[in-house]
Amino acid sequence: ITLFVPADAAAVALGADRVAAAIRREAEARNLDVTLVRNGSRGMIWLEPLVEVETATGRVAYGPVTAKDVPGLFDAGLLDGSAHPLCLGATEDIPFLKSQTRLTFARCGLTDPLSLEDYRRHDGLKGLEKALSLTPAQIVAEVTDSGLRGRGGAGFPTGVKWKTVAGAEADQKYIVCNADEGDSGTFADRMIMEGDPFVLIEGMAIAGIAVGATKGYIYTRSEYPHAIAVMEEAIRRARAAGVLGLSVMGSAHAFDMEVRAGAGAYVCGEETSLLNSLEGKRGVVRAKPPLPALQGLFGRPTVVNNVLSLASVPIILDRGAAFYRDFGVGRSKGTIPIQLAGNIKHGGLYEIAFGLTLGEIVEGIGGGTASGRPVKAVQVGGPLGAYFPRDLFGTVFDYEAFTAAGGLIGHAGITVFDDTVDMLAQARFAFEFCAVESCGKCTPCRIGSTRGVEVVDRIAQGVEPEANKVLLTDLCNTMKFGSLCALGGFTPYPVMSALTHFPQDFQPAPLVEAAE
Ligand code: NAI
Ligand code: SF4
Repeated sequence: ITLFVPADAAAVALGADRVAAAIRREAEARNLDVTLVRNGSRGMIWLEPLVEVETATGRVAYGPVTAKDVPGLFDAGLLDGSAHPLCLGATEDIPFLKSQTRLTFARCGLTDPLSLEDYRRHDGLKGLEKALSLTPAQIVAEVTDSGLRGRGGAGFPTGVKWKTVAGAEADQKYIVCNADEGDSGTFADRMIMEGDPFVLIEGMAIAGIAVGATKGYIYTRSEYPHAIAVMEEAIRRARAAGVLGLSVMGSAHAFDMEVRAGAGAYVCGEETSLLNSLEGKRGVVRAKPPLPALQGLFGRPTVVNNVLSLASVPIILDRGAAFYRDFGVGRSKGTIPIQLAGNIKHGGLYEIAFGLTLGEIVEGIGGGTASGRPVKAVQVGGPLGAYFPRDLFGTVFDYEAFTAAGGLIGHAGITVFDDTVDMLAQARFAFEFCAVESCGKCTPCRIGSTRGVEVVDRIAQGVEPEANKVLLTDLCNTMKFGSLCALGGFTPYPVMSALTHFPQDFQPAPLVEAAE
């Protein structure tokens, strides 16, 4: 019997290691021949630890399973445990999974993350093989034609970025993968690194061949120890199998890579700050221009792409630009791995073509709040993203539609709040966060964030509230247009959206007359 228990950090946090140990014990006690695969997560966090059993008709899921449930699962006869209360039926038929379009996450949760054979069996390395049959310019053209845009948040066309690096003359170029996933409520980069590390290696190797870079770095955070361990082992195995090294799969191209862990500063997710950190310097933002594409790591032309952008490249090369471009709406092509978090019933990873409305995502797919109370606000795009009220639930998940609605998709994290949330406190938190995480290089962010906390506090205390709201708006405009990078520049989004959409939370509390 083959069983699957995720080794994904979220599943482990929910007890997956204890469940795996209980399965091994139980199998031994019953003298059963059980193969236990520690797969990635399928992304249904509310069902973790999700145990799957390979049957003649496909995989059957049980969840959420605790170590105590394990003997009962064996008693129920695992292969046909349909009567067991934790049985969820065929994994692929669980509606949350069935309704997705998994392109980037096609293998996550399905395969053994560290088995290169398993990776190949599930279409792995086909994109790289295709890339090796093309010229670098043809690879860049394919990525450009696919419409892929930077999944880190800015949505800049990946092919255009690659073209700039490909066209730059230099003795050395680099591919840097931004895996410093700092947005609250996001975990897609981590899930790829833990659940399908070879897809990231393959995407980076393709990028290297396309632009003429021979060295790659994955910059991630020290808070991701599981991801670091899996990536490092996957790189070792890829090197041993000749996928990485002086000759990529027997070709004339060389490409190798390594993992670097940062200390966990949010601003090190900003590309120039990341490059400074990677060079061993303090993580301070650099002014642009020069663009990293022309003068990046150690002053050399560098592709800096998010994990999801790079992990989407292999399927684009394998299936062709037109296949990928066919998904999505407007200028937002392909699929987007949405991360549902906060006060939500069905939290997890949901990959789908661009084009659903925010309401369909939060209430349809996510099932509304976990508390059962009405949704009051959802923050889209991390701590620097705007808060959306229910009135804006018709907004289509697409880069341009979100910009038009005064927000951003960012790294596609959605954090849900019920009607008990105090939006003034959330606005204060945005300034506080900015003050703590600011790199200190520019004045609007370094000073403005602290002044922002003070202004919000005055509004809360009822001190000249109207004048202070005008001051708050003015301060937000200064930060938005005067900051050097997105940290200071985007802090106004949560603040102004809270003030605009939830003005009732910015009214001073009615004065209670002191008892005589
Ligand atoms: P940006 O718009 O300045 O740049 C986007 C990318 O395009 C950069 O890599 C830039 O170097 C590149 N670029 C621009 N013009 C180019 C050209 N002509 N040729 C080649 N490359 C070019 O945005 P930025 O500051 O890099 O990112 C801001 C975004 O980051 C925000 O939208 C936010 O959503 C997101 N973000 C993501 C976080 C995460 O955890 N993933 C955390 C914080 C913010
Ligand atoms: Fe540094 Fe903030 Fe200025 Fe960005 S906006 S460069 S984080 S001080």
